[in-house]
Amino acid sequence: MTGSVAGRSPFLPVRPRRLRQTPAVRRLVAQTRLHPAELVLPVFVREGIDEPQPIEAMPGVVQHTVDSLVAEARRCVEAGIGGIMLFGVPSEKDAVGSGADAEDGILNVGLRAVRDAVGDDLVVMADLCLDEFTDHGHCGVLDEQGRVDNDATLERYAAMGLAQARAGAHVLGLSGMMDGQVAHVREALDEAGLTDTIILAYAAKYTSALYGPFREAVQSSLVGDRATYQQDPANATESLREIELDVAEGADIIMVKPAQTHLDIIAMAAEVSPVPVAAYQISGEYAQIRAAAERGWIDGDRAVLESLLHIRRAGAQIILTYSALDVAASL
Ligand code: PBG
Repeated sequence: MTGSVAGRSPFLPVRPRRLRQTPAVRRLVAQTRLHPAELVLPVFVREGIDEPQPIEAMPGVVQHTVDSLVAEARRCVEAGIGGIMLFGVPSEKDAVGSGADAEDGILNVGLRAVRDAVGDDLVVMADLCLDEFTDHGHCGVLDEQGRVDNDATLERYAAMGLAQARAGAHVLGLSGMMDGQVAHVREALDEAGLTDTIILAYAAKYTSALYGPFREAVQSSLVGDRATYQQDPANATESLREIELDVAEGADIIMVKPAQTHLDIIAMAAEVSPVPVAAYQISGEYAQIRAAAERGWIDGDRAVLESLLHIRRAGAQIILTYSALDVAASL
């Protein structure tokens, strides 16, 4: 046993604490750093409002008017963040989500306005999914038995992808988890000569209770869940299959979602993926931190920075987070 004799230190040549003694030393040896350029801000644009509307379950996040959306996009450019991901909140919904691919649909109107304002100074992304636009709230169209019809949905996604690319989206974020969606949208884009449009595929997207606040944000009409298309949190290896398929189908970036509850999947994706890996810190992850911080139970700003560091350390190169602007300001 190494004991200390009066006044003398024990023989301890290896002392990991040496590298933790000052902020400067800690900074020198830090293996993971956050940078605004790798952050993407998800935003909501709502049809038919004159003032931004707060989202109760997401303190600090609003449904934007087209004007306030453009102002937010400009703030993103100033903050040097990597991109902005748009979600639309239409005032009318129907069974096939007609507002999704309509030229005057709110998401496409928002895309056009943002792209006009920021040009190529910010990567403009669009959520490519039907759930915000369907009256039943599912990510696809339904068959006669009320089940989500995979192949009929692909046609809707292709139309939506074309509309979004034409409205100025640099990146299409395919989040619907239909089989073959990347190949189908890619083919439609190629046929239309839109060969430069980037596809970010939500490759490994798990069903989760943590999407709750998002449902308020987009005024979702969903009853039930998305368990027939989003992945079961009990499974890990099927993510490898989803990633492999999406890359083979022409995805340029793949994403894992939710983020902090799926760090093992992010690590696995980072190991196998030949394309950049993104992760989405979803609404419920944001809400949990903010709610605890509002009660004074945790330091919210620190908790956010920590959470993003975990996601980076697991291997995600790009992070979608509702805290992107706050974090960029603090870096
Ligand atoms: C689908 C989509 C959802 C989210 C992103 N894209 C909703 C869902 O899958 O239920 C959730 C994002 C979040 O919770 O922050 N359009």
